[in-house]
Amino acid sequence: MLDIQIAAAAPPPFVRREEYRPPEWLVPEIALDFDLGAERTQVRATLTVARNGDHAAPLKLDGEALKLISLTVDGAEADYNHEADELTVPIAGDRAVVETLVEIAPAANTQLMGLYESGGILCTQCEAEGFRRITFLPDRPDVLSRYRVKMTADKARYPVLLANGDPVGAGDLADGRHWAEWHDPFPKPSYLFALVAGDLVANRDSFATRSGKTVDLGIWVRDGDVERTRHAMAALKASMAWDEKVYGREYDLAVFNIVAVADFNFGAMENKGLNIFNSRYILADPDTATDADYDAVAGVVAHEYFHNWSGNRVTCRDWFQLSLKEGFTVFRDQQFSADQGSAAVKRIEDVRALRAAQFPEDSGPLAHPIRPESYIEISNFYTATIYNKGAEVIRMLHTILGPEKFRAGTDLYFDRHDGEAATCEDFVKAMEDAGGTDLALFRRWYSQAGTPRVRASLTHDAGAGRAHLTLAQQVPPTPGQPVKQPMPIPLKIALFGERSGDKLADRLVLLEGDEQEIVLDGVGERPVLSINRDFSAPVVVEAERSAADLAFLSANDDNPFARYEAMQQLMLDTLIAAAAGQTPDHRPVIEAVEQTLTNTDLDPAFVAEAVLLPSEAFVGDQMLVVDPEAIHRAREALRADLGTELEGLWRSAYSAHAANRFEYSPPAKGARRLRTVSLGYIAASGASDAPQMAKRQFDNADNMTDRQGALGILVNSDAPERAAALSAFYDRYRADGLVLDKWFAVQALSTRPDTPDAVAALAEHVDFTLANPNRLRALVGSFSVNQRAFHRANGQGYRFLADMILSVDKLNPQTAAKLVPALGRWRRFDEDRAEKMKGELQRIVATLGLSKDVFEQASKSLA
Ligand code: ARG
Ligand code: ZN
Repeated sequence: MLDIQIAAAAPPPFVRREEYRPPEWLVPEIALDFDLGAERTQVRATLTVARNGDHAAPLKLDGEALKLISLTVDGAEADYNHEADELTVPIAGDRAVVETLVEIAPAANTQLMGLYESGGILCTQCEAEGFRRITFLPDRPDVLSRYRVKMTADKARYPVLLANGDPVGAGDLADGRHWAEWHDPFPKPSYLFALVAGDLVANRDSFATRSGKTVDLGIWVRDGDVERTRHAMAALKASMAWDEKVYGREYDLAVFNIVAVADFNFGAMENKGLNIFNSRYILADPDTATDADYDAVAGVVAHEYFHNWSGNRVTCRDWFQLSLKEGFTVFRDQQFSADQGSAAVKRIEDVRALRAAQFPEDSGPLAHPIRPESYIEISNFYTATIYNKGAEVIRMLHTILGPEKFRAGTDLYFDRHDGEAATCEDFVKAMEDAGGTDLALFRRWYSQAGTPRVRASLTHDAGAGRAHLTLAQQVPPTPGQPVKQPMPIPLKIALFGERSGDKLADRLVLLEGDEQEIVLDGVGERPVLSINRDFSAPVVVEAERSAADLAFLSANDDNPFARYEAMQQLMLDTLIAAAAGQTPDHRPVIEAVEQTLTNTDLDPAFVAEAVLLPSEAFVGDQMLVVDPEAIHRAREALRADLGTELEGLWRSAYSAHAANRFEYSPPAKGARRLRTVSLGYIAASGASDAPQMAKRQFDNADNMTDRQGALGILVNSDAPERAAALSAFYDRYRADGLVLDKWFAVQALSTRPDTPDAVAALAEHVDFTLANPNRLRALVGSFSVNQRAFHRANGQGYRFLADMILSVDKLNPQTAAKLVPALGRWRRFDEDRAEKMKGELQRIVATLGLSKDVFEQASKSLA
């Protein structure tokens, strides 16, 4: 018994950044020969290996869940040692050809890492360490190889055979089999390898690069889905043109293919010349995809395409450098999306996402710098910190250097490191050299975790016509980093005259030390402070501005993001006071919303964002002890008052933004958004006709945005229209997996008190499955961010989530581990909830046979 406990508790080892050593062996050439089948696939791998440096170490190859059939070195049988996940082969000279034959079982691969089956299609996912589940190789990003790939498969079942690079040959064989061969001229790390075999059809197009080369484009999907790839194709071509224009980056192969599959652990993957996507980020048409889905498709298509330079041409030396490619590429896709529509609304959405996912991570037990120091399982580090905070760090460089020097910096970076596996330091150095700026202190953004807090206080000397702004920063302690150094924080600030509304000052301040004082002249009248405009730094600002000042800014600031931010702060202050048991006046919020709603100069898309209350979870994040019920009550009360007091305005906005026919354009999107937000407030007012209005919108909609919007409102109500809409939606879309996900998600996000029970029942629904990550995220992931439902006082939400994590872990550890952080927030809750959450984490950690993915997240969450 004791032995078993010790064995179960023996923790998996940490990988440490400081332990990086260059590879002992390089693999300049790889030839792979696949005999493909769902139940059984054989892989013959021919590796040309070369000793790297002066040492006598044997060749070590990674391999996981592989059945080794044979191995030769330079054509002869050779000695080897195969232990755990490593194959050790002694090599006499400095170069050799090592050939292995292995067998794998794609259909039995439920982890969706390596070669697996999704809806009858064979596909791969190798980042970060999936290649070792296909064949033996030094599976690390600093080993770059030229790949030749041959695939043989049954022609009826797998008529299409795709791999990286260019197709070089194909032919038919006896017994209904056929083959195809692809060569990729660009040396790449194994994580960028991909192949696809399946019964697929393509939306084909082409793109002429600025130097006049023609690229054949293909988006491959299942028969019947081609029409739903038009938007993705338009986004791909727009991305290719944008990267040429904005970053001077041209595509480098004659072929670019994208394949969509239904079972995928995350969004998509940038494999060289053959991106593989979660189908939810490819398929879109008005009947099945919302405007937000359309935006997400374009954003992810752009993101993966942009990786061709920021990730593939220049890759990462080791996985601690992950943000080098992900932070930079997210920044690039954010810029691209901002250029396609409203930049202000895009910035609001990006900041909202950062605050919803990254801020909690940065203040919790899993906090880590954008360049972590250690990990147990690298899959756990594909986080909001690496991606979204990483993008904010790049954005700060852009702000500090300005667009021209920033571009000079990226040119220098691509130039210097093309074909290499680089580090975050290489990127900063290129920025430093091209920008002629010392970034020594800025590097702390790479090494220190935690969201800095900036306190701002403004004093005014009317007689001297002068204002003093005092800024002080504090970076909170995070696990392993009790004491922090101050960070350089670029803050865009402005002062507005309270009386005149004039802008009295507008500048970029770089707060470098603990504290700094700024003197602003020419300030004759009482100034109102606008700070962190455009969200120039990923920090929390405490500026102690009055409700009147915030209302003033929400109406008068000329920076749309700052206007939104002022309104949010006003709402937040009101909600926090109410949740803490006070009875704050709702009037300032109501008046500010009224001002915004009646300002005809504003873009409806912006208005819709500005009048929305902060989420319950975000209000909770501001409180020392989160009280989910009190927050819910406070927020519903403010919503109801806004609904009632401004009912006439909501009703006129609702009718003013009706459309005759669906159109996909920024103004039409803005109108749809404001219309559904208005309907939400009409429902919040308690108006008796609200359920009928919502049902009418649901029934008459000619697009998913309006339909899902109406359903999202009805799902919170007790009206009979609720059940009718849910069942109509189910009947109409039960055969469409992506839309059925919405049906699960909308119910898991309901604010009704019975949501925890409804979610438990949905987990038993015939259409629920643990095997599909999208379905799991739709139900369980959505539920875990529904603050009121998940934190129901009796702890049933915690138990449900822990049960799900343990069940999923047996199939797909990576996806199971993503569900753990919701339980890790126990320190923020009352003792009773905290004990219950901890109890579930302890139950998880004590489970035998736990994956290292879940072990890492759960054990760190308890520490
Ligand atoms: N590189 C991919 C992307 O961001 C994501 C890969 C995620 N891999 C993982 N193990 N979670 O575009
Ligand atoms: Zn990426």
